Amino acid sequence: MVTPLRCAVCHRRRPEICGGFCACGAYVWEPIPIKPPPGIIVDSLEGGTPLRPKQFPAILAEAMGGVVLGMNILVGGIPGSGKSTLCGELAAQMAERLDSLAYWLDAEQNRDIVRELFPRTGSSTQRVRLVSRERGRAGAGASFRDALEVVPRDAAVIVIDSLQRWARGFAEQTELLDAVSGLAPTVLVVSHFNKAGRFAGPVGNEYDVDATVIVEPDRVKVTKCRWALCPRSVKRPQTSATTSQTEKGVDG
Ligand SMILES: Nc1ncnc2c1ncn2[C@@H]1O[C@H](COP(=O)(O)OP(=O)(O)OP(=O)(O)O)[C@@H](O)[C@H]1O
Ligand SMILES: [Mg+2]
Ligand SMILES: [Zn+2]
Repeated sequence: MVTPLRCAVCHRRRPEICGGFCACGAYVWEPIPIKPPPGIIVDSLEGGTPLRPKQFPAILAEAMGGVVLGMNILVGGIPGSGKSTLCGELAAQMAERLDSLAYWLDAEQNRDIVRELFPRTGSSTQRVRLVSRERGRAGAGASFRDALEVVPRDAAVIVIDSLQRWARGFAEQTELLDAVSGLAPTVLVVSHFNKAGRFAGPVGNEYDVDATVIVEPDRVKVTKCRWALCPRSVKRPQTSATTSQTEKGVDG
């Protein structure tokens, strides 16, 4: 099938015999765009806004070379490696510097434990709002969708701690990641690790996000990032109590 052409200037369809010139005098022809079926969009890549990472003084941001606002980041690591602590640091910094709020969707711990994560990195809880399930039957029926409903569009960042606790099954995890990918705020999704030391759940979880970050006791590794060259890794500051406790354990 020969692609039908039209005049690039007046959009008149090219006649079979025209000697190369359009009736309007122009001689540049282009394919007549095919009308897409419902649900399909054809777009040009010209213009638009470039992916510009914004810098924040937090180790997760440093590891990724900054954060492109609105992206979704999966943060994994073994239990106790510091996932929640480092998400708290970045969330507090983003809320402050973007003059907005961070929404912490907690299904892991409780209010006191979440609050205590912040002083560890010298971060303020002032701009953090805690979203959690009510105790008892009312809370048991609440889903991640219910929790996301209370987050305003202009929130700076949402932390979901954790993917596995807010969405038990693999299918539900896929739905959660799909749901947050359409949201305006940046989303940090904390993920458990499996016994093999990888992100728990289907490998699709890693494809469904824009960046994957692994928190280790002494460093933060970025294994995937849609706006920076990967893999990359930064050392965690040795001043944190997490590492000094480890060292104490080793020394005596
Ligand atoms: N007061 C404290 N100051 C500094 N570090 C602490 C303090 N209390 C606990 N820690 C350390 O912080 C680490 C836990 O950090 P965090 O809760 O961020 O990890 P996590 O990866 O989210 O863990 P989990 O998988 O259990 O949710 C532990 O290794 C613990 O030793
Ligand atoms: Mg945690
Ligand atoms: Zn023409």
